[in-house]
Amino acid sequence: MSHLDVEPLNAGFGALIKGLDLTTELSDEDVEAIREAIDTYSLLCFPEQPMTDEAHLAFTRRLGEPEAEHVTLGKTGKVVWFGTVGNVADDGSRQDSAHVRTRYQRGNEMWHSDSSFRRLPSFVSITHAYEVPGEGGGTCFASMRNAYAGLPADVQATIDPLHVIHDYVFSRSQVAPVDPAHAASLPPIEHRLVRKNPRNGLKSYYVGSHARSIVGWSGIESRRLLDDLLRRATAPEDTYTHRWRAGDTVIWDNRCLLHRGAGYDADRWRRRMRQTRVAGAGPTLEEP
Ligand code: OGA
Ligand code: MN
Repeated sequence: MSHLDVEPLNAGFGALIKGLDLTTELSDEDVEAIREAIDTYSLLCFPEQPMTDEAHLAFTRRLGEPEAEHVTLGKTGKVVWFGTVGNVADDGSRQDSAHVRTRYQRGNEMWHSDSSFRRLPSFVSITHAYEVPGEGGGTCFASMRNAYAGLPADVQATIDPLHVIHDYVFSRSQVAPVDPAHAASLPPIEHRLVRKNPRNGLKSYYVGSHARSIVGWSGIESRRLLDDLLRRATAPEDTYTHRWRAGDTVIWDNRCLLHRGAGYDADRWRRRMRQTRVAGAGPTLEEP
């Protein structure tokens, strides 16, 4: 068993891990314990981290290959490892609710799994909170692993072999126009609808706002199934809302969790979080 101080949340998933400073050089044993905790709990919160971008990226590399942030990559071809979540510009100014970046981020208020629209979707996101609103600004999480486990056996058998198309332009053009070069860089991608954790064999389904259709099914039938799976996973009593404190570093498992921003008043508060993502082990269609 892990030597980490792991305190499970009472949400059916998630854990608080105290007493570990992620900005120091971690031992291989610590990193392995974190990997194991990701597979077990799906969501890990490490409070009071004295984080910097440099330490954040170094820690990210301990968990795998960092993912190039897709917006900058799609628009300009440049590789950057960080995304900024919230309404604070690089120069430190606050961007209000009408600002294009703030509006664009409203797309994150739909349930999603980060980078599910990429051929190599994200394994985990690692997010550090630097500035948090005095009110609102939480992030809600839901477990598609727990939801899969709660499905009737006949529904599990129906969905197990299916493939699902995830499509960024489909989901995000609902909230704001997608830059043409960005859109062209993200063609629709086919994934397994049901994925299995390689360590513990637990299955989860893989839906969210980017999930557009089921391969071989009509639009209406696809929508009905995808909406039903999303609704089952995100029943309010089964979700956990993380209320950020400055200094929190949170890791979430995009293979089996959904998340969404709960919203906040961007005209009143500053919210600044930095995020890296670790790329998945391979295309989901090649997962065993
Ligand atoms: C994210 C995300 C929503 C929010 O950080 O990937 O979707 O605003 N965040 O909390
Ligand atoms: Mn997200």
